[in-house]
Formats: sequence, structure tokens, C-alpha cells
Amino acid sequence: MLELTDAVVSFSSPGGPVVRAVDGVSLTLPAGSFVVVIGTNGSGKSTLLGSIAGTVRLDGGSLRLAGHDITRWREHQRAKLVGRVFQDPRAGTASSLTVLENIAVAACRGRHAGLRWATGRQLREEAARRLAAIVPGLETRLDQPIGSLSGGQRQIVTLVMATWQRPELLLLDEHTAALDPAAADRVIQATARIIREQGLTALMVTHSLAQAAALGDRLLLIHRGRIALDVQGAAKRRLTADDLADRFDALRRGDQLDDAAARTLAEAYV
Ligand SMILES: Nc1ncnc2c1ncn2[C@@H]1O[C@H](COP(=O)(O)OP(=O)(O)OP(=O)(O)O)[C@@H](O)[C@H]1O
Ligand SMILES: [Mg+2]
Repeated sequence: MLELTDAVVSFSSPGGPVVRAVDGVSLTLPAGSFVVVIGTNGSGKSTLLGSIAGTVRLDGGSLRLAGHDITRWREHQRAKLVGRVFQDPRAGTASSLTVLENIAVAACRGRHAGLRWATGRQLREEAARRLAAIVPGLETRLDQPIGSLSGGQRQIVTLVMATWQRPELLLLDEHTAALDPAAADRVIQATARIIREQGLTALMVTHSLAQAAALGDRLLLIHRGRIALDVQGAAKRRLTADDLADRFDALRRGDQLDDAAARTLAEAYV
């Protein structure tokens, strides 16, 4: 369970205005929730995820995860509970290490065992099993540098690493945005499967309304640092990309979304 209460993150640039990138967000995610987050560029999605991962400091509010008050925990402490996959396939992995060595690093996270133990036979077998279950054939690449994989394959390995120790929370920040449509689709299928099979609690940012409609059990629209739309339960299960366009229009008419944002969001319908 994740509980964010009155979270605020402000940025100020010299001489510029103060931007409230996260503007008083309260959010409770029961364990096992799969939440899709959408919003226009600069609406505060990454800052919200960063404030949960600990890369961005909260200026106000509090954060609880799995029974711990983690508001003042540093990023590396939170990493024991939080798995992350970013937009850039190169982020979160070491290019010069092999696929297996990268997985070994993830398997050792938060433990005191050395890398040598972790690259043993048991780990090799488990890594091969988990990769083959998602992309048959990927297990044959274990001893190659991770930098030799395609972007999509690398994101799948990063996903396997991020979920190796079953995190309390999985954060995905546009993790398919840098991929071609076919690779993005494979990574999305793998993501949905891992989240389902492990029963993970996950927050996934996407610019694809098709993904937003089809995936997850809850949808949040972030606008100017606030939750402008929160669809869950039966309403989320029934939601189509067309319904979403109608919802944006209703928000625009109610002055909760400006014209430009409503147009940009509707255009993301792919
Ligand atoms: N480190 C920072 N310093 C100053 N301003 C920042 C910083 N990080 C984010 N911002 C500002 O905070 C606001 C929210 O940015 P954020 O990156 O969270 O948006 P986003 O919704 O993830 O956008 P995108 O869809 O482009 O990834 C923007 O106005 C951005 O310019
Ligand atoms: Mg972002």
C-alpha cells in the first residue's frame, strides 16, 4: 500500500516563477493496484514518480509505503522497496556488463552477498528461466554485454531486474516511449504480465491513450501538478480511448483543463 498525503514539490529558477510541479497530491494505492498516469508535457508526472522514488525531495506532505513512513528516506534506502524503469533503455543498467552480471547486481540489491556468489549456477538458471518465460530466446544472450541488445530487449531485461526481488512498488516512467511501436507493444505485454503474475503495485506513466484505456485498474490524469481525473473500478474496466477523449472534453468545458492540454491529450490517441 502506498499513501501519499498532501504532497508538494516546488521548483524555482533564478528570476523565474515558482513552479508547483506537484501541488498537494493525496493518493492511496491499495497493494496490487496497477495505476496508469497520463498528462501533457510538464504536468508533473515524472516529478510525482521522482518524489516517490526519492530522487526529488518533497517540500510538503508525507509518504508511506508498505507500513513505513519513507518521507525522509534517501533514494538508495527506498530502492529496497521500489523498482524503477525509465524511458531511456540505457538508464538503470551498465552497458559494459553482461546481461547476467546486470541481473546479478539487481539480485544483490540490499543484500550483503557479493557479486561472485550471485553469478553462480543458481542465478544463471533462474535468470534464464525468467527471461525465457517472457521472450523465448532472450536467455541465450545472458553472457553478452547488455549494450548489444535492442532497446526493447534491454527494457525487458531492465523490467526483470526491477522486479527481481518483487518490489513493494514498481515505477515505470514512459518506459516504452523510446521504442518503435512493435517493440513498445512487446514491452507493454511483458509489463502487464509481470505485474499480473507478481501481483505488483505499479504506477506507469504513458503518453498513449490506447495503453491508458487498455491497461491497469485505475487511471490518473495529472494536470498542473494535480490529479484532474481519477477513474477506477468498473468505470476503468469499461473505459475506451474514445471515452477518454470525451472525458477530456468535459474537463475542458468545466475549466478543469485548458484548451491546449485537452487538444494535446486527445491527439495522443494512437
Ligand atoms: N529539476 C527541476 N528543476 C526545475 N524545474 C523542474 C525540474 N524538474 C521538473 N521541473 C518542472 O516541473 C514541471 C513538471 O515537470 P515533469 O518533468 O514532472 O513533467 P512531466 O509530466 O513528467 O512531463 P513530460 O511528459 O514531458 O515527461 C515542469 O514545469 C518542469 O519544467
Ligand atoms: Mg516526464
